[in-house]
Amino acid sequence: MLFDACTIGGIDARCRIVRSATFEGMADAQGQPTEKLASIYKNLAAGGTGVMITGMIAASKLEPHQHNQILLDDDRCIAPLADLITQVHDRGGKIVAQIVIMGSAIMVPEGENRLIVSPSGVPDQLGREKQASTALSEGQIRQLVADAGQAARRAKAAGFDGVQFHGAHGYLASKFLTPFYNTRTDAYGGSLENRARFLRECIAEIRKQTGADYPIWVKLNCSDFMKEGGLEAEESLQVMKWLAEDGVQAIEVSGGNTSSLPRKGPIRAIRRTKEPMYFAAYAKAAAAALKGKTDVGVVGGWRAASDMEEALATSDLSFISLCRPLLRQPDLPNLWRNGSTEPATCISCNRCFRDTDVDCIFHEQAEA
Ligand SMILES: Cc1cc2nc3c(=O)[nH]c(=O)nc-3n(C[C@H](O)[C@H](O)[C@H](O)COP(=O)(O)O)c2cc1C
Ligand code: SF4
Repeated sequence: MLFDACTIGGIDARCRIVRSATFEGMADAQGQPTEKLASIYKNLAAGGTGVMITGMIAASKLEPHQHNQILLDDDRCIAPLADLITQVHDRGGKIVAQIVIMGSAIMVPEGENRLIVSPSGVPDQLGREKQASTALSEGQIRQLVADAGQAARRAKAAGFDGVQFHGAHGYLASKFLTPFYNTRTDAYGGSLENRARFLRECIAEIRKQTGADYPIWVKLNCSDFMKEGGLEAEESLQVMKWLAEDGVQAIEVSGGNTSSLPRKGPIRAIRRTKEPMYFAAYAKAAAAALKGKTDVGVVGGWRAASDMEEALATSDLSFISLCRPLLRQPDLPNLWRNGSTEPATCISCNRCFRDTDVDCIFHEQAEA
């Protein structure tokens, strides 16, 4: 089942393995892909992944971008992406652009005279640091919604097979959903319907700018796993139902943010927590609830093909996503397709999680 040709979220794919968005920090100073970045996607495509989701791509000039981040905040960004996309298509893969409005979860801000923004100006907890931010005006919200739509239009023009809007991990759309960070009293705060408004307006604008059938995916937290004031699982499920009504073709279930309880963030050191596949139960429940309405997949701690096969066979999940395993082994899908029963060799140490030039430490040690 894992390796059957299929359609996931409106995209024809050679298998149900998705590469979850992985920020590489390898764009040049203009936010354009470098040869090194293109070769990452070339290797992933050659290694048999079905659909590759790019690292988060900055959509707006209103806010800073991350150091060495790919940009889609201007029409000049369209043409330079074409080569990277061709490299993937030539090797039988599909590629989706992850569009993000960063907000106050940004870690290494770049870009002159730009604002770090958030729903209500509540400081972001980034590890031991606090990130100050400015509460958005309604006019600025309208600007960011328009920017998300324009970025998606550019992604389509560049040749991406679809877009994924980042609604997870404490980036801006996720912050709006989180009561701790969203204390607004206008139409964007308070009730769940209001807290989901920014996300849904971005999706509506992306749909308007990309047309009726263009694949739009969303990455969403099943829960923020915060001590208090986080998005809860029941609320997340309701948001997923709204997204399905809004025409989103696939939801990738993740969870957590930088304020989550210890070891409850999105990128868990699963050997220490002894909790592989840590969002599986939430995602399976969502997939059952949304069956026939939108495709639901899951990311987080999947390491064995047998677990993935079983999950697909015994639930309504449509795809399983991997991030760290494909950093260490871009050819992992083909190894499994050709009969290997070995689990991924990634040890989930998280030493690849850094601001720029992301790579598995085992590659670097081998090169040293
Ligand atoms: C180096 C690195 C970069 C990441 N960049 C992104 C990103 O740009 N967007 C995103 O949604 N998630 C990002 N993530 C989170 C992953 O997509 C994924 O949700 C998480 O690593 C859990 O999956 P895994 O156990 O397969 O690694 C990143 C994770 C790592 C380790
Ligand atoms: S650095 Fe660690 S977590 Fe990252 S890919 Fe390599 S083994 Fe996996």
